[in-house]
Amino acid sequence: MKKAQVIIDKEFLVGDIDKRLYGSFIEHLGRAVYEGIYQPDSPFADEQGFRKDTLELVRSLRVPIIRYPGGNFVSGFCWEDSVGPKEKRPARVEPAWQVVETNQFGLNEFADWCKKADTEVMMAVNLGTRGIEDAKNLVEYCNFTGGTKYSDLRKLHGYEEPHKIRTWCLGNEMDGPWQIGHKTAEEYARLANEAGKVMKWMDSDIELVACGSSGSHMPTFGSWEATVLDECYDTVDYISMHQYYGKRDGDSANFLACNVDLDEFITNVAAICDYVKGKKHGKKDIQISLDEWNVWYHSNEADKKIEKWVQAPHQIEDVYNFEDALLVGSMLITMLRHADRVKIGCMAQLVNVIAPIMTSDTGAWKQTIYYPYFYCSLYGQGTVLNTIVKAPVYEAREHGVTPYLDCVAVTNEEAEEFVIFAVNKDLEEDMEVTLDLRQYAGYRIAEHIVLHDEDLNAINTEENPDRVSPRKDGQSSVSDGILTAIMKSKSWNMIRLKKGEQ
Ligand code: AHR
Repeated sequence: MKKAQVIIDKEFLVGDIDKRLYGSFIEHLGRAVYEGIYQPDSPFADEQGFRKDTLELVRSLRVPIIRYPGGNFVSGFCWEDSVGPKEKRPARVEPAWQVVETNQFGLNEFADWCKKADTEVMMAVNLGTRGIEDAKNLVEYCNFTGGTKYSDLRKLHGYEEPHKIRTWCLGNEMDGPWQIGHKTAEEYARLANEAGKVMKWMDSDIELVACGSSGSHMPTFGSWEATVLDECYDTVDYISMHQYYGKRDGDSANFLACNVDLDEFITNVAAICDYVKGKKHGKKDIQISLDEWNVWYHSNEADKKIEKWVQAPHQIEDVYNFEDALLVGSMLITMLRHADRVKIGCMAQLVNVIAPIMTSDTGAWKQTIYYPYFYCSLYGQGTVLNTIVKAPVYEAREHGVTPYLDCVAVTNEEAEEFVIFAVNKDLEEDMEVTLDLRQYAGYRIAEHIVLHDEDLNAINTEENPDRVSPRKDGQSSVSDGILTAIMKSKSWNMIRLKKGEQ
C-alpha cells in the first residue's frame, strides 16, 4: 500500500471560502431551461410551471449563485423578448446553438425560480451583438426602484420590487471565434470597460466580471487577460476563467491529472491580475470567477447529429461516469486550494446540459458528479488551511508530474468542524494517509464518506439512479492525535471531524 502524509498548521491559512465558490450555471441551451427547470405540462410542475423535483435537488445542493442566461446564448440575446406577457413574446432563431428560442421562460421567471431555489442570480449582458445601451437598460430594468422607463416597465410586468442583482458578467467567452460578435482583446476591453462603467453608474452596488480566457488552451490566453485588465482594472472586480476537460484517448491516469492544468491556469491568471495591479500602482486585487467548469466530452459525437432549428433538443447531455466524478472532486479540491483568489465558481451547468441533475418525464436523478459537488457545497465552508501533501507521484502523459493524492483541509469555526477532501487517483492501490491532528484536540471523526466503484465507467441512469453513490464506510481513526485514513484505490473521500462528537 502506498503511503502519504498531509501536513497542516492551524495558523497557516489559505483564506476564507466565498460561499459563491459552489455556484452553477443555467443557459438557454438544450433542455436546461425547458424540461429541466420549467415544464408547465409536467406532473411535477408547480403553479408557475417550475419542476418541483428539480427544485428539490437544486435546493439540496445549496447552490449559492447561478449564472444566466448564457453562455454562448447571451451573445445574441435580446432580453426585452423574454419579459412581459408570455403570449406577446416572440419566438426567435437562436444562432449560437442553432435552435428556436420561444422566450416562454425569461429573466423575471428566472428571478422567481432562484427565490424558490434559495439562490442568487448572476446575470450576463450581451456584448456580442449589443452593447452599452442595452446593458444600461437591463440594469435599470432589474435594479432600479421605479419612476423611469425600464423600471416602470418591470412594474408593468408584475414585478413591483427590483430584483437587485448584484453580480454581472460583461459578455461571454469573447475571446472565442465561435462566439457571436467575437472580438479582439482590445475591442472587447474597450467595450467591456465602457459598458461596465455605465452599469456601475446606474447601480454602484453591483460587481462586474470581465471575460477572461475560454480555457488554458486558447492561443490568446495570457495576453488577453493582460490587455483586458489593463483597460478595465478600475471598473471590474473579477476576471473570468472557463475550463472543461475531456478524456479523448482512453488514458485514465492522464484524464485524472487534468486538475494539474487547472491549478496552473489559476496560478497564471492570478499572476496576471497582480501584474496589472502592480503596473497600475493599484490597491485593489482582481479576483477570479471560474464561472464555467466541468467535464465535457461524452456528448460530442451525438451533438453533431442534432436537427437544427428545433426547440430544446437533447443537446450536450453528457452521461457522467464514476471517473468523471473523481476529476470533478479533484477540480473542487484545486479550487479550494486557491480559495484566496477564486471567489466565484459555477459548475457548468446545473440541469440536463453537462449537469449533475437530469430530468425525464418520470422524474429527476443525480449523476455521479453530483456527489463531490454536494459534499463540498455543504461541508467545504469556512477557511482553507494551507495543506501540504507529501504523496507519491506519477508522470501523466500531458500533464506531467501528478500526485496520486489530491487533498485539502478546511476548518469551519462556526460549525466546529474540520473537514478533509481527498482523491486517491491510484488505479491499483489503496493509500494510507496520515495527518497530525494534535492542534485539533477534541475533534472526533463524525463521518468518512467514500465514493468508489471498481468500474471507472459506471454510470447512474433513470432506471438505476444509485449505481454510483456515496457510502459512509471509510476507514479512518485518530490515535494519539494522528489521523490515519485508508483512501481506497480510485476513490473520492470526505472525512468530517466535529468537536466533541464521536
Ligand atoms: O456551457 C456550454 C458552453 O460552453 C457555453 O455556452 C459557452 O460559454 C462555453 O463554450
